[in-house]
Amino acid sequence: MKKATYETGLTYGEGDGSFRTAGGVVGVRKLVDAFYDAMCELPEAKTVRDMHQDNLDESRDKLARFLSGWLGGPKLFSEKYGPIRIPVAHRHLEIGPAERDAWLLCMKVAADQQPYPDDFKDYLLKQLFVPAERSRNKD
Ligand code: HEM
Repeated sequence: MKKATYETGLTYGEGDGSFRTAGGVVGVRKLVDAFYDAMCELPEAKTVRDMHQDNLDESRDKLARFLSGWLGGPKLFSEKYGPIRIPVAHRHLEIGPAERDAWLLCMKVAADQQPYPDDFKDYLLKQLFVPAERSRNKD
């Protein structure tokens, strides 16, 4: 992807620029907490919420650890849980465009609650579309 410097002066997607803009480990955990809170609250996300276990503690931990590495920070997921490939991790679930979009909506609501620059929120959502679309396994 074309590199660009944004209003933070950091280049998202280069080195750990995105991870630092997201607030490091603490910031990413806040994002993920807000993400799962949105999933519990939004009627549009009910189907996706119901795919998860009642207790979301492990889901929160796994997603926060995954995103840390995905954003260019420490690879905390593989440290604790081993290697992962996102499409494979979701293939036992039925994910169509509606489920993909509900997941991304929760992420948008969550990102909007964070003290991120607007251009980072846009960047983040655009980038997350890629693994979300790769996790889709039905029309
Ligand atoms: C496209 C819509 C998505 C849906 C509906 C969805 C749903 C889920 C569900 C229900 C689980 C728990 C699976 C289980 O316990 O059996 C899960 C796990 C996980 N998801 Fe997603 N997900 C989506 C997209 C994503 C994306 C885009 C990412 C990363 C950027 C992601 C990262 C993860 C991770 C790291 C796990 C833990 C996997 C494991 O340890 O096996 N998910 N997802």
